[in-house]
Amino acid sequence: MKVDKLYKYDVLILGAGLAGLRAATEIARKFGDRVRVGIVSKVQLMRAHSVCAEGGTAAVLRPEEGDSFELHAWDTIKGSDFLADQDVVFRFVRMMPYEILLLDHWGIPWSRRPDGKINTRPFGGHSFFRTVFAQDKTGFFEMQTLYDTLLKFSNYDRHDEVFATSFIMKDGKFAGLTAIDLVRGETVLFLAKSLIVATGGAGRLYGFTTYSHSVTGDGLAMAYRVGIPLKDMEFIQFHPTGLVPSGILVTEGARGEGGYLRNNRGERFMKNYAPSKMELAPRDIVSRAEMTEIEEGRGFKGPDGLDYVHLDLTHLGRAKILERLPLIRELAIKFAGVDPIEEPIPVRPVAHYSMGGIHANIDGQVMWDAERTVENMFVAGEAACLSLHGANRLGSNSTAECLVWGRITGNLAAEYSLSKEYPFREEDILQEAERELGAVEKLLRSDGKENPYAIRKELQRTMDKNVGVFRTREGLEKALEKIKELKKRFENISIKDKNLVWNTDLVMTMETGFLLDLAEVLTMGALLREESRGGHFRRDFPKRDDERWLKHTLAFRKEDGSPAFEYIPVRITYWKPVERKY
Ligand code: FUM
Repeated sequence: MKVDKLYKYDVLILGAGLAGLRAATEIARKFGDRVRVGIVSKVQLMRAHSVCAEGGTAAVLRPEEGDSFELHAWDTIKGSDFLADQDVVFRFVRMMPYEILLLDHWGIPWSRRPDGKINTRPFGGHSFFRTVFAQDKTGFFEMQTLYDTLLKFSNYDRHDEVFATSFIMKDGKFAGLTAIDLVRGETVLFLAKSLIVATGGAGRLYGFTTYSHSVTGDGLAMAYRVGIPLKDMEFIQFHPTGLVPSGILVTEGARGEGGYLRNNRGERFMKNYAPSKMELAPRDIVSRAEMTEIEEGRGFKGPDGLDYVHLDLTHLGRAKILERLPLIRELAIKFAGVDPIEEPIPVRPVAHYSMGGIHANIDGQVMWDAERTVENMFVAGEAACLSLHGANRLGSNSTAECLVWGRITGNLAAEYSLSKEYPFREEDILQEAERELGAVEKLLRSDGKENPYAIRKELQRTMDKNVGVFRTREGLEKALEKIKELKKRFENISIKDKNLVWNTDLVMTMETGFLLDLAEVLTMGALLREESRGGHFRRDFPKRDDERWLKHTLAFRKEDGSPAFEYIPVRITYWKPVERKY
C-alpha cells in the first residue's frame, strides 16, 4: 500500500494524554523552535483518557506537617508488594513537588485550603494526606492546563485523529511510524530522530472497566510486535469503586473525603480486612475484600451478575459533596439513578490500570532486554513499565508518573535529537512502511466469516470472568484456550467498510488485534506466576513467594506470535521486603 503523506520531525510523540502533553510542553519551553515536534493522537487532544482522571496527584508538599520523601517512597514500595524498583521510586517522589508547583504556575485551579495553600486529601495506602486535587476532575484540569500552555509555543504540529499502525525499527533503533489519517483517509509515514510512546494502558481488555473505549494498548502491542518486551503484564489493578452497571470510576477521593464501604448488613466490612486503614487500604486489598463480601452473600444483587456493595457518602453532608465531589454526584445521578447526598452508591471492583507495560529503564528509555536500550525510543505514563508501581499502584501515583516521566523523556528525546542526524535513507524506510501498510490493506480487504466486534466482546467477557480479582489455574487455562481460539478466528474476519476515511470498522478491528496479543501475554504471565502479589491473586497460590517470584516478568514475541518469558531481578536498594499488613 502506498504512503500518501510523509512527515519528518526531530521528536515524535505518540499519544496526547498527560504524559504526551507534559513531554511536549517540556520540549517547547526548554528547546523552543530548535526542536520540531509531531504529536500524533488517535483522538482529538482533549479526548485522551487522561481527562477522566478524577481524584488527584500525589506529591510531598507538607514536610513541615510530617510528610517526607522517605514516607512517600515507603508507602509506594509497600503498596507495590515490594515489586517496585526502589531507585525509580525515590527519583519519582523527589521530582513530584516541582510538577505540582509548575502546574500551579501555569494556572491550574488546584483546590485550596482556607489559608490559601494548595489542598491535599487522603488516598488509599498513603500514610499522609498528600493527594493534590482539583475538585474531582483533576485529570481534566491537568490536561487543560498543559494544553493551554502548549498553545503559547509554535514548535509542534498536531496530528489528531491519526491512528498508528506499526513501528518501523532498523539497526536496533526507531526509524518510523506508519499510520492512517482518519480525517483525510490517507496513509502516513512519520520519520523522526526519536520517539516518545505515550499511548496509555490496555484497559479495554476488560468489559467492566473505567477506561474509555479508545484505551486498547496500541503502543504496547506495536512495541511487542517489533520484538520489544512487555514487563509485568499480569499485574492489573482493579479499582474498588466502579459504578454499577456502567463501570465508570467513582474516585477513591470519595473515600478520602470520608466515605464508607458497607455490605448488605450495613457493616463497614473493611474492619475485617485492613483494620488500621479501613476504606483507605491499597486497592488490591479493598477489591478483594469487596469480592469476598459479595461471594459470601453479603453484597447486593446487581444486573448481569454485577453484584455490588455500597459506597456511603450520606454522612458527609450536602455542602462537602457539592464542593469536593460534584462530578461523582452527577455521575451517580445520571448513570445509577442515585443521589449520593441521600443514598449510597452501588459499586464493585473494576479494571482500572495496567501496572505492566513497555520495558523501560529509570529514564523511560525503552529496553530490548535486560541490558540493551533502544537508544532513540522512550516511553512515559501508563504505557511504560519502569517498575514504579510494582504489583499494585497506589492511587494518585499515576497522573504523577505521567508528569515526571513526561518531563524526563521530553528532555532526553529532545537532547538526543539535537545531537544527531536522522540516520536512515528515507527511501529505505518508505519501502519498509509500504510493506507494513500491506498488512493494513489485507485487513481492509478481508471478507471472512468472523465478526470482529463479536471477537472483542468475547475477549472482554473471558477476561472479566477468568482473569479478574481472584485467579486460578483452571480459570486462566480456560481464558488462554479462548484467547487462542479468538486469535485463530481473527484470521478469518470481515471488514464491511472498505474506505479509509474515518473507517471505525478498521480501527476497531486493528485495536482488537492488539488486545488479543496483550491478552495472551497477560494471561500466560498470570498462569506462570504461581504466587499472590499485589493485583495478581492466585487462589491456588494465596501467599507471596519471594524466594521464587521476587522478580519482573519480561514477555517477548516469538516467530509464531505467541510469547516467551524471561525474568529479571527487582532493584532493592533501600528496604528489604517484609510482610505487608495494614
Ligand atoms: O480514584 C481515583 O480517583 C483514581 C485515581 C488513580 O487511579 O490514581
